[in-house]
Amino acid sequence: MIRLVIDTDPGVDDAHAIMAAAAHPAVHIEALTAVKGNVALKHTAANACKILDIMESEATVYAGCALPLIAPPSDASEFHGRDGLGNSNLPPSPRPIAEEHAVQALIRMANAAPGELTLLAIGPLTNVAMATRLDPELPQKYRELVVMGGSIRGMGNATPAAEFNLYTDPEAAAIVFSTWPQLTLLSWETTMAHTFSPQQVDALWSMASPRAEFFRRVSQNTLDFINHFLGDRFLLEPDLLAAAVAIEPDIVKTAEWRHVEIELAGVNTRGQTTVDWFDRTGKDPNVKLVLEMDTDRVWEMLKAALE
Ligand code: BDR
Ligand code: CA
Repeated sequence: MIRLVIDTDPGVDDAHAIMAAAAHPAVHIEALTAVKGNVALKHTAANACKILDIMESEATVYAGCALPLIAPPSDASEFHGRDGLGNSNLPPSPRPIAEEHAVQALIRMANAAPGELTLLAIGPLTNVAMATRLDPELPQKYRELVVMGGSIRGMGNATPAAEFNLYTDPEAAAIVFSTWPQLTLLSWETTMAHTFSPQQVDALWSMASPRAEFFRRVSQNTLDFINHFLGDRFLLEPDLLAAAVAIEPDIVKTAEWRHVEIELAGVNTRGQTTVDWFDRTGKDPNVKLVLEMDTDRVWEMLKAALE
């Protein structure tokens, strides 16, 4: 059984990732820790509850950091909708948000089950960085950290150079990448290479179930945005791909270990992941870069969650 803590900023693709994890027979979601990212914290925490409701999951939602450590606040509401779930206008969830702060919860849960929990971080790394500063032994207490983020070949989606999650809070990313000795990274370039085709999208759109209806309602805005700007009816699934890596590691076909750091000072490159592809620094590899994976299996995972 994979015991999963998901640090998240739902977010349409966050929703897909959480739905796939919640429905997966080998996964137990221990908690969702919400962070500001795609939209404000009040929305990301509320959205986490709505997603767990439709999946009938009993996991607890904790609210975390409402602002990045240093960077000015920004968001991705153009892509994810003003509410973070595609302007879907879903009713509020009756589920209470826990009183404990997400950062404290990340530490407490790891201390209660050292070496047993997988941490899947699919938003800006503010909560994870804060937790690591409060407890420097945290990296040794989680079984694994899988992060969605980074532009490993410099092809950013937030800026020309930087990917959204790491650009939103570069200082937090720098803390995490310099203190967790080993993490697995699902980058923006790997996301672009593993999209759901229009045929795969159509198949999901034709499913009949309350979960499929929820999926369509939260995803339509994003699908229209992609169609408008990128010219076809396909889906980008960064967070779902990262979840799939955490849940079924053999879904990865090619990965490489490299030393990765976060650029903080660059005029045009702040928030970029610099990857030492040719061992120019001689520093130990700290990141497993996921390069190739089985997209069809990821699609099957999401489809199973919508039945
Ligand atoms: C990442 O940024 C967010 O908009 C998505 O939810 C994903 O986590 C992709 O760059
Ligand atoms: Ca996200």
